[in-house]
Amino acid sequence: MNAFQIQVPATSANLGPGFDSIGIALSLYVTLHCEPAEEWFFSVPEQDRAHIPSGKNNLIYKSALYTANAYDYDSLPAYHVRAVNDVPVSRGLGSSSTAVVGGIELANQILDLQLSDYEKVRLACAIEGHPDNVAPAICGGIMISSYDRNELDYVRLTDGLENLTWLAIVPGYHLETEKARQLLPGSIDYKDGVHSSAKANVLVAALAAKDWKLAGKMMTRDQWHQPYRKQLISEFDLVQESVKEDALGLYISGAGPTMIALYDGFDLQQKANLQSLFPDCSILPLKADVDGITVELKECSKRTPLES
Ligand code: HSE
Repeated sequence: MNAFQIQVPATSANLGPGFDSIGIALSLYVTLHCEPAEEWFFSVPEQDRAHIPSGKNNLIYKSALYTANAYDYDSLPAYHVRAVNDVPVSRGLGSSSTAVVGGIELANQILDLQLSDYEKVRLACAIEGHPDNVAPAICGGIMISSYDRNELDYVRLTDGLENLTWLAIVPGYHLETEKARQLLPGSIDYKDGVHSSAKANVLVAALAAKDWKLAGKMMTRDQWHQPYRKQLISEFDLVQESVKEDALGLYISGAGPTMIALYDGFDLQQKANLQSLFPDCSILPLKADVDGITVELKECSKRTPLES
């Protein structure tokens, strides 16, 4: 069996009104260094150990086993997986999706399943419940997806993304997706739904037409989730005020608390200004990742299986 390395990008979901449907892969990564071993073990970076278990209750392992089971394998040969993680955990940048997607790819490699991207996205949606983070993590670029009772359809956009900066303003605190979802209403008025859907339609058309100015405007117009969630993000109003002159738009990334400001051109002075206004936030100027998940085969090292 081979050693290999899996790289999975962070993602930013919703892009405003694309709730549970639209997401983009960004240039921040989790890398899994995988080697055959005597027993399963996950070496997790120190800063993430409180949230990510090292044994078989790890989401990477659970997703790998789910994938194996879906293709009629009862178990997986053991591997040592060393995770190098640049994606902040529970901040709205798709960290749990990187684990789900990494696990699916892990099973794909170990069992040589030769899964297509479509099959990977379908498996990931079955685990995660919605496609907005997992689809771009797998395919790269902007993914506009629908997953409804096992029916999966998507369109991938990659053109013209190279000049844009997706500026992540990442607060220092965690926000659990479940908590942020509990704030959403159980139902909405029919007419409000029609208006919200129209905003999402214009967002998608603007992204496809590479009309970034209009896309940025629509990001700020969301009515599906941001009005309910912004109260959980103490910096939201001040960030909105601070970026409104220069940025094309601002939205809550996934369930938050990270906010993404979209720029067509962004420089170090702007970064320094924002960093001084928000000293407790990380200010990360990110680019779109158009590759999605990548795998590199490696020579097995002589390390002992449990050495990190
Ligand atoms: N669309 C999801 C949400 C992303 O906003 O709750 C986080 O899983």
